[in-house]
Parts: sequence; structure tokens; C-alpha cells
Amino acid sequence: MEVVVRSDADAAARLVARLVAARVRAKPDLVLGLATGRTMERVYDHLAAMHRNAGLDFSQCRTFNLDEYIGLPADDEHSYRHYMDCHLFSRVNIAPANAKIPDGMAADLRAEAVRYERLIGEAGGIDLQLLGIGEAGHIGFNEPLSALMSRTREKALTPVTRQQNAAMFGGDADRVPTRALTMGVGTILEARELILLATGRAKAAILARAVEGPITAMISASALQLHPNCKVVVDEEAAGELTRREYYDWVFRNEPEWREYQG
Ligand code: F6R
Repeated sequence: MEVVVRSDADAAARLVARLVAARVRAKPDLVLGLATGRTMERVYDHLAAMHRNAGLDFSQCRTFNLDEYIGLPADDEHSYRHYMDCHLFSRVNIAPANAKIPDGMAADLRAEAVRYERLIGEAGGIDLQLLGIGEAGHIGFNEPLSALMSRTREKALTPVTRQQNAAMFGGDADRVPTRALTMGVGTILEARELILLATGRAKAAILARAVEGPITAMISASALQLHPNCKVVVDEEAAGELTRREYYDWVFRNEPEWREYQG
């Protein structure tokens, strides 16, 4: 794992967008795992700008979102399908048929979870998976005690998560769905590369536990320590409780892979 600290949320998101763009340019038919949430909005803004101004081409990419609320139709303004349409899909040239999100309205959610895993497999697996981190330490909607080998499945959301996401539901946590379909921790760990983006003071404590603490199913993001190719990109505020900051900064300044991202 490598940790990169940038000055503010926009610089952190810009770095993530540049990493995604580099992967898309290197492999035009990249299989890209996507996340939703407020943190990712800036990344999608940057990717949309790169598409518009620099011709970044997503036409051959296939995408798989991490999760979707159960019980919200795709055209509900709170669904993750709607979020993705607004923040990314309507702004770049990803073919609609290539943009997959679990169907939270499926009559048989277990069958939908199996189908989703099969689609990922048929695409050859995920090349690069973007991740945020929840205040309860989740990646995707893998709430505390999610098995580290879990696959796509239904998951009940914690009160912390529903509170965290209340802002998107008019501030009312009771309106946040209670369940979601989410890729499992095991599904996520099979992606060939992971990039987690965390910004803001509210993420500092959980981020430090996930990155520097013990691996535990209580904090599913801690499972990222098991992955051989994982980058954690944070702003100064989210980095506030990391203890090995000097080392992380040294690696960023000195390792050749980061040279083109110094600016
Ligand atoms: C969303 C997802 C979640 C979010 C996390 C952070 O698809 O998978 O794990 O990434 O809850 O959300 P924000 O960015 O809103 O703080």
C-alpha cells in the first residue's frame, strides 16, 4: 500500500483522476470499478473535464459500480444509477450498455448478486477499482463484520452510514434505505489495482485505523492492507491522524512511479 497526501480535497481528487486517465490511455478497454458518494464527485468533475478538453476516450471502457440501494428505482434521484448518470455517464462517452450497477429493484436479490459477479468475471475482472471510505470504515457498503472473503450480496446499513448519507436525503436519516446490494470485500480485493480516496476531517480517525491499524472485519477498509497494488490518496485533513507521514511523503517525492504526478 502507498499513501499519498495532497494539500486539499481538489488536489487529491485531481491526482486520482490523473491516475484513472493514465490507466484508460494505457488500456482503452479498461474495466473500471466505480464508487459513488460526495468524495468522488470531484474525481468525476476532473474526468469529465479531461474528456471534454483533452479527448480522454472512454468508448471502449466497461464499468462496474460497487453498490446500489435496495428498493430505489434507477430513475429515483437518490439511486446510485441516477448519481452516476448525473456525475459521470452523461458527461463522458462510456457506452450505456457497458456501465453496470447492481439492480437494487431485482425481484430475486440473490440471483442479481450472482449475476453481477458473473458479469465481472465475463469482463475479465476489474482492472482498477475506485473506493471511498465510510465513517464506519466501510468500502462499498461492507459494513462492520463483513467477511473479508465476502462476495456481492445484500447488506443492512449501519445507523452511522445512514446518518452519513442523510445529507443526500434532505438531511433525514430515516429516508436513507436500510439495505443495499454491494460487491463484497473479496470481490473488491480481486481487482488488479485499488485506489481509495478520502478527504476531510471526518475521515481522519477511521482512515488511520484502516491504514495503520490491524486488519479486522470491523473495518472493512483495513482489508486493503492485503492487496498488493493499493494506493490511498488523501488530503491534509483526512491525513491528520496518520503516524508515518514522513515516510509516505518521502515515497511520493522519490519513487519513480510518482514523478509525473509531483505538480
Ligand atoms: C459508495 C460507496 C461508499 C462511499 C463511502 C464514502 O458507492 O461505496 O463506500 O464511498 O461511504 O462516501 P462519501 O464520499 O459520501 O463520504
